[in-house]
Parts: sequence; structure tokens; C-alpha cells
Amino acid sequence: MIDIQHVSRSFQDKKKTIEAVKDVSFQIKKGEVVGLLGENGAGKTTLLRMISTILEPSSGSIFIDGINIHQEPMKIKGRIGVLFGSETGLYDRLTARENLSYFAKLHGISKHEMKTRIDYLAVRFGMKDYLDRRVGGFSKGMRQKVTIARALIHNPEIILLDEPTTGLDITSANMFRELIHQLRKEGKTIIFSSHIMEEVKQLCESIIMIHKGEMIYNGTTEELYLQEESDDLNYIFMSRIVRGNLS
Ligand SMILES: Nc1ncnc2c1ncn2[C@@H]1O[C@H](COP(=O)(O)OP(=O)(O)O)[C@@H](O)[C@H]1O
Ligand SMILES: [Mg+2]
Repeated sequence: MIDIQHVSRSFQDKKKTIEAVKDVSFQIKKGEVVGLLGENGAGKTTLLRMISTILEPSSGSIFIDGINIHQEPMKIKGRIGVLFGSETGLYDRLTARENLSYFAKLHGISKHEMKTRIDYLAVRFGMKDYLDRRVGGFSKGMRQKVTIARALIHNPEIILLDEPTTGLDITSANMFRELIHQLRKEGKTIIFSSHIMEEVKQLCESIIMIHKGEMIYNGTTEELYLQEESDDLNYIFMSRIVRGNLS
């Protein structure tokens, strides 16, 4: 279980303090698929960076199965796979396979397991045809597939995906949806952020809505539809913002 307790994070920008995440608390059960919804600048990336151990909260704590992840990050890192949409961080001069092997080695995966895992992911993502081509010449969608494969290379049980479909064409976005369904069946815990309500609606049983760093909803989509007497997430989101912080 992921347990977020009163987490805040601020940044100092010249003389101004930006409160990117404000006193956010929620829990995510094992095997849950959660959509993190919010406009640009809402604090989604900051929150995911904190859950991935990369960034420390200014206050509050995050626990995974009772382990304080910022106190003992090494106990947790290997169980988490992360994808941050804005930065692919692939090596253009290497092939897709070499990129994946490189990250597999960083995770300390054995040679044999690495090969099995790369072949499996290549089939699953339809990357077989270009697995041995240099990433430098890849389209955005091809790169994104390699990046998602990289996030999954060590078969993590918790998967954090920051705007994974931004910039993908329809085919790749559909492939991504298929992948989420598959991962859910395998019992993975997934948090993915998006500003596309429709996507979240199709994929998640629970959602977290954040607005200007504050959580304005946390619960199942079903409950939300019942509360709001609508299943139009765009409409619900806007009306919650207008009404202020309600839960
Ligand atoms: N490293 C940083 N330094 C200064 N401000 C930051 C930094 N990271 C994020 N912010 C600010 O925090 C707020 C939330 O950003 P972010 O988490 O990236 O939002 P989102 O991912 O929802 O678009 C924004 O106002 C952003 O400018
Ligand atoms: Mg972001």
C-alpha cells in the first residue's frame, strides 16, 4: 500500500515561494489503477517525483508497505518503475535494445533475465522490427514505447507514469491503454497522470484530482459520478474548481 501523509512541497523561485503540492494525503491499495488528474501546473509531476523517491517533500511523509521511502529509498527503488513524459532520456546513438540493456544493468538484472525481459517487452510493444535500430531516428511514438519498456524493464510492482500518452498518435495511445489493462491483470499498482479526462475515465477505477497543489477529489469514479449526478469528468472537474475545495 502507498500511504501519502500530509505531503507538501514548495519551491523557491527568486523571491517567490511556489507551493506546488499542499498538504495532500491519500492511500492507494495494491493492484489499484489510479488516475491523477489536473491542469498544467497543478502539481502532478511534483507529486509523482516525490512518490518515486527522486524528490523529497518539504513536509509530510510517504510510506510504501510501511517503509518511509525518503528515509530508506534503497529498499523501495527497485520496486518502482517510473516514466516522466517530458524527458525520455534515451541515448540516441544506441539501439533500442542497447538502451534497454543499459537500464537493465543499472537495475542489476542478470544477462539471461535481461534478454528474456527485453524480448517479452519488444513483442508486447510491437517493437521487434526496430529493436536493433538506433533510437536517434525514431518517431515520437517509437521513442515513447522504448521509454515505457524501460520503465518496466525490472518488472516493478508499482508503476508511475507521468502523462504517458502526451504526444502519442492514436495507435500508440491505444496500445498504451491495452498495456494498462494487461498490467492491471498482473496485479500491478499504477498511478498515471493525465490532463485528458476521457483517458482516465476508460482506465481507472479511482481518481485523484488536484488543482493548484490541492487535492479536490480522491475516490472511485463511480462515487464521483453518483455525487455529481454526471459522468462527464470535464464538467465535474470544472464545477469542483468553481465550487472550491470539496471532497
Ligand atoms: N524545480 C522547480 N522549481 C520551481 N518551480 C517548480 C519546480 N518544479 C515545479 N515547479 C512549479 O510547481 C508547480 C507544479 O508543477 P508540476 O508539478 O510540474 O505541475 P503539473 O505536472 O501538474 O503540470 C508549477 O507552478 C511549477 O512551475
Ligand atoms: Mg507535469
